[in-house]
Amino acid sequence: MTAIAAQLSFTTNGSGFRDPAFAENKLAPVHRWTPWIAGFSAQFVEDVFREYIPKTSSRSPVVLDPFAGVGTTLVQAMLHNYSTIGFEINPYAALVTQTKLKAVSIDLAQLDAVIRSVERLKSDPNGTAPAKYRPHGFRSRIPFFSNQIEPQVLRLLKKIDSIPDDDIADITRIAFGSVMVRFSNYTYEPSLGSRPGAGKPLIENADVPAIVVSKLREIRDDITWLKRQGIVDERHSRHSVYCADFLNFNTLISDSSVDLLVTSPPYMNNYHYVRNTRPQLYWLSMLPDGSTKDLEFANFGKYWQTVRGSEPIGLDFNHAELQQTIKDLRKTRLTSGAYGGPGWANYVASYFNDCHRFVEIIKRVMRRGGRAVIVIGNSIIQGIQIPTDEVLGDLANKCGLLYEKRIVLRTKRVGSSITTSSVRRGEKNRVGLYETAIVLRKR
Ligand SMILES: C[S@@+](CC[C@H](N)C(=O)[O-])C[C@H]1O[C@@H](n2cnc3c(N)ncnc32)[C@H](O)[C@@H]1O
Repeated sequence: MTAIAAQLSFTTNGSGFRDPAFAENKLAPVHRWTPWIAGFSAQFVEDVFREYIPKTSSRSPVVLDPFAGVGTTLVQAMLHNYSTIGFEINPYAALVTQTKLKAVSIDLAQLDAVIRSVERLKSDPNGTAPAKYRPHGFRSRIPFFSNQIEPQVLRLLKKIDSIPDDDIADITRIAFGSVMVRFSNYTYEPSLGSRPGAGKPLIENADVPAIVVSKLREIRDDITWLKRQGIVDERHSRHSVYCADFLNFNTLISDSSVDLLVTSPPYMNNYHYVRNTRPQLYWLSMLPDGSTKDLEFANFGKYWQTVRGSEPIGLDFNHAELQQTIKDLRKTRLTSGAYGGPGWANYVASYFNDCHRFVEIIKRVMRRGGRAVIVIGNSIIQGIQIPTDEVLGDLANKCGLLYEKRIVLRTKRVGSSITTSSVRRGEKNRVGLYETAIVLRKR
């Protein structure tokens, strides 16, 4: 797209960086606790550390992930005794990451006692179901849990409430959060939808305590493994994970303090992290005002649903090619109004305005010579291909960072919520969906 991009080394994956797909994490200790969409693998993060963390540094390097998800970057950094800083706006994902980073100090005898007490819930199938644990404001088109399953869930939530150790209570919460959709009438495909809608039968009954206990046992095994990894205590490395919007709370990070940033921001594909975690957010009481609205508005890049109906949104910076793309997009499917080109043009402009703020912030917090490795995919919106990675690189260059490298990680990616794209129409299109890592350096 740009002259700058054309000058960059364009490496296909002979670079030594392994496939970033999160699928690999399903097998790795600790990473496997909770599935999460559009992350990268622990192996990929290892490759980045090998490339960019100096072997001879006398102090513990500081690794930042501003969009931490369920903590792939930060857990790997902890295993190396690096100091970590993370931001994650979604309270469920933030809890998972915070819990993983504290897990090495969990008392296994206490965890075993809790596992046994959850197991015992099974022998009391007719016990009372405390209705106060049913979340207010949680609505679903069909009943989320069957009549046989919901009382078991309510008893489990009451049990969690009574666990005296906060960290073990959190482990039990995330064990429940990571399996709850399995025994619900909903399914991830990868967006959350009803099972009948996906051609699957309803789930009438399941042994909820047994499913949660099996997850707790997996977590316990991984904590045992963690304890053998030689992780040192807080005097040597510190871990901070903020459940907060990185764009607005980054002042929690000192200037020029970050050695390496490894992250993957939300892609411009409108994948709705907030809606897809509604079950966990509501059933684990993670929304103080019972609504996801604030989260939706603060999400990086915004959601199409939150900006499509606004007055035309313009770019906060100069970028002639992107400006032209947005202009072209705004003229498509005019008769559909907010649902056509004008709505999507607002989404694209909002997304890149956040990208612009993002590169300004990382320039401030990175140490001189420090690197940022950002995994991102392109997008095809209303049939128009937008090379998000290249635009992000341009913005970084304009703000004074050096756009050092662009590494193609995958040339085939399954997109979601991309409307009227040639991919969806099944055409033999010239440009498909790809994923790259762009590498930025602070001069
Ligand atoms: C692609 S995912 C990152 C996944 C992560 N690499 C992992 O392995 O789990 C992007 C994440 O950014 C989070 N996010 C979105 N907007 C944010 C914001 N303004 N501040 C912090 N996190 C945000 C989303 O909730 C989502 O978890």
